[in-house]
Amino acid sequence: MCVVKASLVAALVAALAYMLATNPFGNVPPSLPSDSAMSALPSWPAYRASNALASVLGATAAATTPPSARAWAIITAFMQSEILATLLAHDVFDNIFPEGSTSAQAAIELGLHEPTLRRYLAAAETLGLVKHGRSTDRFFLTEAGKTLRSDAPSSLRPIALFMHGGATKAAWRAATSRSIVTGESGWMLAHGQDIWHYLAEHPEEEALFGQAMTGLTRPMSGAIVADLKPPTSVGGRNATFCDIGGGVGTLLSEWLRHHPHARGFLLEQPAVVERAKEYLASRGVAGRSTVASGSFFEKLPANMGAACDVFVIKHCLHNWADEPAAAILAHIREGSKKKHAILVAIEAVLMPGASAVLELPKRLMDINMATTVSHGARERTMADFAALFKSAGLPAPTRQTLRLPSVSLLTAPLHAA
Ligand SMILES: *[C@@H]1O[C@H](CO)[C@@H](O)[C@H](O)[C@H]1NC(C)=O
Repeated sequence: MCVVKASLVAALVAALAYMLATNPFGNVPPSLPSDSAMSALPSWPAYRASNALASVLGATAAATTPPSARAWAIITAFMQSEILATLLAHDVFDNIFPEGSTSAQAAIELGLHEPTLRRYLAAAETLGLVKHGRSTDRFFLTEAGKTLRSDAPSSLRPIALFMHGGATKAAWRAATSRSIVTGESGWMLAHGQDIWHYLAEHPEEEALFGQAMTGLTRPMSGAIVADLKPPTSVGGRNATFCDIGGGVGTLLSEWLRHHPHARGFLLEQPAVVERAKEYLASRGVAGRSTVASGSFFEKLPANMGAACDVFVIKHCLHNWADEPAAAILAHIREGSKKKHAILVAIEAVLMPGASAVLELPKRLMDINMATTVSHGARERTMADFAALFKSAGLPAPTRQTLRLPSVSLLTAPLHAA
């Protein structure tokens, strides 16, 4: 029976992969560092087939689940993330040996109540985070579980801790009672200031947030470097790559390591500049990058405007309401001096009516934006982006998908003829 099921699934995957293998494998950059974040990417056919399969199976599961069971799963969904948060808060994942650990070993090591820990681990097994070897009575981390260890490359532990931290929880709680009535941000209501001012005053949480963003950005950088291909008219592979609000330079450094003749700029707030310089140096690209201190709400630094071919702005627009978001785009347009320069915004794009499985993470993030970021922060549809670009004096962007769910490249010329 099991074999029949497995071969049916395999046949379905193969058929879908064959039908959907219409895309090229992306762009091959001039240099492929050994630790390239691109190496973890699935091929385009595999990626498309797995998305198609997930949509079909997701819709099938939805159609065959009794309505009350569906509702029950949503009612109890918070318990899943609470179980994870508890295990992370007590460093359980970090203390499970590669060869597996018994609950007694872990409990002694961590000073936990063994019978309770055992029940948490059994629950985590049903969530697919750990696996229990029945014969040895040892618990192992699954591949999903391993992404939550602090030593995982691009660990998801910091974002998990940030999302389960008291400050985020308080914002969601405030949203439950007030935001939906007034439209105010839950963070504002709970903390009396927006998340950016709050983080500036809470260095520990700010550092955790920074690590969380790095954990999310590195795998994304791989997908972006693999599939973003600046046209020859803007300088092709040697185009000067400029990241607006690019944090410490995670994406910029990946770009420069894959494009050994390219140069880059980073625009960040004064508080981040020193850290960015250190990070770019640690990645061996300090000599080809310039860090500019400033804000995307002000005029673009003149040296950036004069040099940049490709202006990248990743996951910034969704932090702002239409008016400030348009102001950011307008500053880039006005400051950019090269005739062929292009703008590449990297954002989730809401697709009303698309497969629920693929839309769910974006819809959750849309509410997370409303709840924890500033008033008006939101995810957008293509129509919303077209309107936003238009109000900044730009043509509607074209969309290119990446091999990562919920991430698209939105490209527009900055000085359309
Ligand atoms: C990029 O720059 C290098 C060094 O100047 C040059 O040899 C190469 O031909 C350039 N590549 C492209 C695609 O322009």
